[in-house]
Amino acid sequence: MELIQGIRERRSINFFESGRELSDDQLRELLEVANLSPSSFNLQPWKVVVVKDPERKKVLRQCAMNQPKVEEASAMLIIIADPRGVEENLEKMIESWQQLGYMKPEMRETTIGMIKTLYGTEDSLKRKIFAAKNASLFAMNLMLAAKGLGFDTHPMDGFDEDCVKREFGIPEDKVIPMLIAVGYLRPGITLLPRAFRRALDEFVRFERY
Ligand SMILES: Cc1cc2nc3c(=O)[nH]c(=O)nc-3n(C[C@H](O)[C@H](O)[C@H](O)COP(=O)(O)O)c2cc1C
Repeated sequence: MELIQGIRERRSINFFESGRELSDDQLRELLEVANLSPSSFNLQPWKVVVVKDPERKKVLRQCAMNQPKVEEASAMLIIIADPRGVEENLEKMIESWQQLGYMKPEMRETTIGMIKTLYGTEDSLKRKIFAAKNASLFAMNLMLAAKGLGFDTHPMDGFDEDCVKREFGIPEDKVIPMLIAVGYLRPGITLLPRAFRRALDEFVRFERY
């Protein structure tokens, strides 16, 4: 599917074909394409918990305001923004940049200093924003990749973050910007027309706010 067509046709699907599975290979391909997302200094501060087991989806549904699509979708993805992604991925990122010729070895310490200044300490608000921003770009890429691969999605922030963390063993310091339901549109369902989008002049300014 053409990229622009995919963007135009992506919708948040409320009615999934219940019981239709996505294979591990299909999910792997989806996640691999999404993983090509851009990120601050290529630090990739995201993690994903894939929930396919019907019993586990039931548990997640209870954390997610009892929204039926959590159980009906083929898979639920818990998108996790990791404030510790800087510490976790910095070495690999620098190594790759050096090896590929993006960066001279003598720039190593300057680059690390710049990253620490830009994204603050592990427990800072700055760091949470850094992680949530990048994980959300990953999430958007994933929804578009899903469209291109023939699946539909639904992003969700209607959930109790503490409940999701408790039930799925996610450490307290992580942030969960959204869950994404992935699957197939239930046969026989006609979507309502896409809801309004603001006119450009309501949100675009040139040169100055
Ligand atoms: C971060 C985020 C969280 C959302 N959370 C929910 C949700 O919990 N439940 C729901 O029914 N829709 C949720 N939505 C879907 C939006 O309502 C939907 O994207 C919007 O109405 C535009 O529709 P469209 O995606 O079909 O263009 C969410 C969307 C986003 C981006």
